[in-house]
Amino acid sequence: MTEAATTFSTVELRDRVDRLPQYPLGHLPTPLEHLPRFSKAIGGPPVYIKRDDCTGLAFGGNKTRHNEFLIADALAKGADLVVWGAGVQSNNCRQTAAACAKAGLDIHLVLGRGKPADGPDPIQGNLLLDHLVGAHVEIIDGQVGPEVDARIAEVAAEYREAGRNVYEWDRYTVKSLAAVSYVLCLVEIIEQAEKSGFAPQACYGCSAGSTGAGLVVAAAALGVGFPIRHVAPIVWPWDTRADMAKIANEAADRIDVEARFEADDIELFEEYVGPAYGEVTPGCLEAMALLARTEGILVDPSYSGKALAGLIDHIRGGRFDSEQPVVFVHTGGTPALFAYNEILAEQIAARSLATPAAG
Ligand SMILES: Cc1ncc(COP(=O)(O)O)c(C=O)c1O
Repeated sequence: MTEAATTFSTVELRDRVDRLPQYPLGHLPTPLEHLPRFSKAIGGPPVYIKRDDCTGLAFGGNKTRHNEFLIADALAKGADLVVWGAGVQSNNCRQTAAACAKAGLDIHLVLGRGKPADGPDPIQGNLLLDHLVGAHVEIIDGQVGPEVDARIAEVAAEYREAGRNVYEWDRYTVKSLAAVSYVLCLVEIIEQAEKSGFAPQACYGCSAGSTGAGLVVAAAALGVGFPIRHVAPIVWPWDTRADMAKIANEAADRIDVEARFEADDIELFEEYVGPAYGEVTPGCLEAMALLARTEGILVDPSYSGKALAGLIDHIRGGRFDSEQPVVFVHTGGTPALFAYNEILAEQIAARSLATPAAG
């Protein structure tokens, strides 16, 4: 891991981040909890969970931290409308729409279905919440990534022509600012772990972008010696390691941290995505059921469940001994569970998610 030329205490690093404008949205700091029954069930090291699924706003998740910085930026630029987009079950869009509601901004969402419609799009999970918090929703056939991005740029241009002051999702400007918010997440983890009397030996989370980039900036700035590992929810049509390194460099610049990152500094695992983004894998189903049944904590089928499946696989593969505590950053995503009800119901019927008999 790259270390910054100068390393900082958690207090010093938080001070640097706090020089940037923030719009308070989240319930922070989120708890860091020990998972004794889950750890025992997988027969590995003590696993701790950073509850960023509990950031609060409209069911929470990692984007609430991101949006504390992005909404502040939008307001500073005098925006009256946000144009945002991703997949139909985007947690990002749900949390951004809720943040806009709170900040008094209008929002137009471009949601990519990734295929032509074969009937009305079910108003369920995140999509239901987008409507409830008052977003203007447009669903297109295109895929998340360049296709959705192109439509966002088009819609933003139309609104500008009509005289609106638009703040738009543009990966080249938004991502590094969002990443800064995850510097604070690692600061919290380090302080909370110290208070609980343990030293993390690795940190795992779901990311192929800003969240993970922010964590690596913090790790370098604090000079922590343990690896930050990212389990990807999607395989982007670009070099994700290089992209995350670029985001990390830009985020470091924003807070005057001198660390430099290259693609090889990013520990990214893309093998847990499965056949495609958003498709449930057997490992993810097992992870979802195991955490729910040992600790009563839910993870989702496309993001946090896949990341947890990656961590379980690494633990079973013998990467840690029983004395090496590991932190799992729960990035949220649980409202999507309700949009997967049919697939999950099939699994329950096939007894692969069957409830063990009581007693
Ligand atoms: C629940 C959840 N976890 C993780 C991520 C990954 O975030 P990023 O790749 O921006 O770091 C997302 C992105 O939407 C998400 O919704």
